[in-house]
Amino acid sequence: MNVRAAGADDLGAIDEFVPAFLQPPYKRGRFLRALRDGEVVVALDGSSVAGFMWLNLFFGHTFVNALAVAPRHRRRGHAGTLLAHAERNALTDRVFTSTNASNAAMHAVLKRYGWRRCGEVDDLDPGDPEVVYVKYPS
Ligand SMILES: CC(C)(COP(=O)(O)OP(=O)(O)OC[C@H]1O[C@@H](n2cnc3c(N)ncnc32)[C@H](O)[C@@H]1OP(=O)(O)O)[C@@H](O)C(=O)NCCC(=O)NCCS
Repeated sequence: MNVRAAGADDLGAIDEFVPAFLQPPYKRGRFLRALRDGEVVVALDGSSVAGFMWLNLFFGHTFVNALAVAPRHRRRGHAGTLLAHAERNALTDRVFTSTNASNAAMHAVLKRYGWRRCGEVDDLDPGDPEVVYVKYPS
């Protein structure tokens, strides 16, 4: 498995599985800028784009802002490959991410790869708190 920087040419592939929370116009605009600014990487399965990850900052630390794998490529370790990339390229000694309390798959992924729950933020999605995770790459 391979990870490389994403470019504008990858948008068509990414759009096939981009999560709903990145689709409202404001977030779409931010995502397109992130793609242009080199904040997005893709995981490849052969020559196919299997997944993507958007990295930015959280209080000065690397933050996995979005991570998604195409349905047909799931359960093959692509999320793990992308998270390992974030760990290897961390700007500081730790990496953060977050996901809705309701996102059982993502909680399972983070548990599987040794991330630790470190907080919760209410009032983003009413009734579905945002759970924050951290990992200190060894
Ligand atoms: C969550 C997501 C990124 C996981 O990607 P993935 O490449 O399938 O994950 P991995 O193959 O690395 O999974 C590693 C482990 O996590 C756990 N896991 C992953 N998906 C799971 C699921 N749906 N249910 C239960 N456990 C799951 C398993 O332990 C899995 O290991 P196994 O396949 O050997 O049992 C993918 O399901 C996805 O894109 N979901 C929609 C977008 C999203 O919710 N993103 C997260 C918030 S930004």
